[in-house]
Amino acid sequence: MDRRHFIKSSCVACVGSIGIITILQACTSQKHIQNFEYKENKITVKKTEFAGIKKGKYILLPFIVIKVEQIPFPIAVYKIGDDYKALYLQCTHQGCELNPFETMLVCPCHGAEFNANGEVTQGPAETNLRTFITTHDHDNIYIQLV
Ligand code: FES
Repeated sequence: MDRRHFIKSSCVACVGSIGIITILQACTSQKHIQNFEYKENKITVKKTEFAGIKKGKYILLPFIVIKVEQIPFPIAVYKIGDDYKALYLQCTHQGCELNPFETMLVCPCHGAEFNANGEVTQGPAETNLRTFITTHDHDNIYIQLV
């Protein structure tokens, strides 16, 4: 591939990525949770935090975001079927903070993508996201940070 073709291809890929991210941001509303308990490296959050409102109607959000002061990056908690998956929002490529969307997470730095299970679906990242042991009962979700 010659230099001109490489630059042209790179620009097309870059503009395409920006377009996809813009569309995804327009389609997904993030809910940053303030109402949770953090004690002994364990987060407890109520399942009702997944309730949201879109266009005046109540909906069940696909994920919520929690930021605990004690760790540098937020955690996204996805509802997958009857279970929950807690993902650390630090890209495994070079450490940028990921943008979570309904079914995927995108790195704004170099375009890596991950699915809601934290698995790499597009490089340059090669390692899956850090996850946390997550359990739940009738009312709450429990996320063990260590
Ligand atoms: S830091 Fe995320 S893709 Fe490079």
